[in-house]
Amino acid sequence: MKIKLAVLFGGRSVEHEVSVISALQAMENLNADKYDIIPVYIAKNGEMFTGEFLRDSDEYKNIPELLKKSIAVNFVLRDGKTILVRKNMKKFGSNDVTEVEVAFPIVHGTNVEDGTLQGFLRTVGLPFVGCDVLASAVGMDKYVMKAMLKDGGFPILDCVRFRRSAYVDRDKCVAMVEEKINYPIIVKPVNLGSSVGISKASDRDALYKSLDDAFTYADTVIVERAVVKLREINCSVVGDVDFAEASECEEPFMCDEILSYEDKYMGGGKGSKSGSKGGMASLKRKVPADLSPEMRERIRTLAVEAFKHLGCSGVSRIDFMIDDADGSLYINEFNTIPGSLAFYLWKPVGVEYRDLLDKLISIALKRNRNESEITYSFDSNILSMGSLKGSKGSKGSKS
Ligand SMILES: Nc1ncnc2c1ncn2[C@@H]1O[C@H](COP(=O)(O)OP(=O)(O)O)[C@@H](O)[C@H]1O
Ligand SMILES: [Mg+2]
Repeated sequence: MKIKLAVLFGGRSVEHEVSVISALQAMENLNADKYDIIPVYIAKNGEMFTGEFLRDSDEYKNIPELLKKSIAVNFVLRDGKTILVRKNMKKFGSNDVTEVEVAFPIVHGTNVEDGTLQGFLRTVGLPFVGCDVLASAVGMDKYVMKAMLKDGGFPILDCVRFRRSAYVDRDKCVAMVEEKINYPIIVKPVNLGSSVGISKASDRDALYKSLDDAFTYADTVIVERAVVKLREINCSVVGDVDFAEASECEEPFMCDEILSYEDKYMGGGKGSKSGSKGGMASLKRKVPADLSPEMRERIRTLAVEAFKHLGCSGVSRIDFMIDDADGSLYINEFNTIPGSLAFYLWKPVGVEYRDLLDKLISIALKRNRNESEITYSFDSNILSMGSLKGSKGSKGSKS
């Protein structure tokens, strides 16, 4: 029997399109002998659709037309099974589209990669590939992620965090940054990806501008020292908290000072569209990265340990920064659902994309098996014991 696998992609995120590319790539590579692949596209307004047309990249040139040809659906938990059900109910006949056994979220960014979708999947009773709710949320919030890594003794760049409410007093915020960090300074929205809203400031005027810009994308912003002689190295990890392995390392190349959205997905600098269909896989990069054997091993070991420390599962990509001024190494960020699922980092160590996908699904099924042994509810119903009326005295008592 094939496993009924729903691939979820899209979503209310600035990385919506990137997710479509990543998901189409994955669906092309999933083993059709093992899985019944059910595409579930989350439109930009959050509504979900299924249908075979959603697997064809050309259809995304006209999304309104594509959605007309697709079926609007919801997930429903019924008798212990998760069913995709038509949203626009037919008067006659069943409205069930298909049962789903496992979900594979291939989504990037806020509202989907950050634990939101993972929480939804738990609520509708579906086992799913990748990080659970907490690790997804931690991985998305650059401040919380740094705090956890620091707690675990991992090397990170310290940062200053501001909420929008504090930024009402812009001068005070800027003074606070200048007291702690020397220029040049990097400003980032706390929870976006793909370099959106990130900029470098070399003086006070630029810092005001960078902060203003970052606050248009998020309610919380972090500020850190800019590494001037920067080398970026990325490494992927697959596994879970019990067992995890590191991939080959890559060095992505940027056209500008900051590795931009265009670098990552448009195959080069602004205006160049070549390779836009390749997603993260089409970025200009060097694999394996030019590293001494010791540095390569240090990065791979740190990547695995940090992955386990944050409680990750599935495939992540951990991005490092090397400061060539003094050779220090920092963990910059986690991508708990990396662009193109980082498959291009696994091929060089002998893992084909199809086998990587199998492995990720088997890790999800393992988590589900382990969880079935955990007690989530008691058979006894304390609400059935006696009258609840007049029990105000016990309000709030949890013991
Ligand atoms: N402290 C820093 N010093 C220098 N460049 C940085 C620094 N932090 C980020 N960058 C640049 O900005 C890019 C995007 O930052 P990153 O933290 O990876 O956010 P995102 O989640 O958007 O990818 C990095 O790939 C790097 O090129
Ligand atoms: Mg990054």
